[in-house]
Amino acid sequence: MKIYNFDSIPSTNDFAESIAHLNEDSIITAAEQTDGHGSKGRSFVSPRGGLYLTELRFYSDFKASKVFKVMINSSVAVCRTLERFALKPHIKWPNDVYVNGKKICGILINNSFSGGRLTRSVVGIGINITNDLPPFLKDTAINMAAAGGKDYSFASVRDELIKNLTAEYTVEEYKSYLHFLGDNITLIEGDRAVNVRALDVDELGRLIVKDEVGDVRAVAAAEVSLRLK
Ligand code: BTN
Repeated sequence: MKIYNFDSIPSTNDFAESIAHLNEDSIITAAEQTDGHGSKGRSFVSPRGGLYLTELRFYSDFKASKVFKVMINSSVAVCRTLERFALKPHIKWPNDVYVNGKKICGILINNSFSGGRLTRSVVGIGINITNDLPPFLKDTAINMAAAGGKDYSFASVRDELIKNLTAEYTVEEYKSYLHFLGDNITLIEGDRAVNVRALDVDELGRLIVKDEVGDVRAVAAAEVSLRLK
């Protein structure tokens, strides 16, 4: 595993894409990003005080149907890291990590497939450590310092996360962080909001829900977003 540590870079995900032709498993970290990318094409504000990390992995025999494993491994690795610093993380399906009901970490995954196989994944992770949050995020996001009531060093969080990313985690371990299973939640499907009960997550990473008339169905993360109650 090759490790690149940057002080400042436009985006660790973009850097990973730019070295993908080397075909080498790599971790890229930065203390600041000037052009960070978030999910749904949004930008990801990445000031100093956060950890910005991308894991670039190549696979020779990884069934495309098992791609949820990439999401499990990264989100559980983040939870393990936060627990190591005595915080109590939860995962908001599929892979946002929350502490005290507020988002502390975002994960953006770009997967490449060929012939029914996953060939490469670019897993970008942004963790708020001591960085100030912009006013528009104050109600919905938190950093480790505010959650734990003390400061944490960038290097200790980075090294712990890199260590935890080398392990493999099970779907049961992933589900142990999904505190909303069994609760009534709102699914946002396009411009429709639907009240359902969240029952489970299956091996494909789909959320199993029961709607108000009792029908059970599986929904994929790409189709919906969640509002927890
Ligand atoms: C989200 O919108 O919640 C996902 C955010 C992912 C941000 C990380 S920071 C490291 C990596 N580089 C990027 O440009 N984005 C990801």
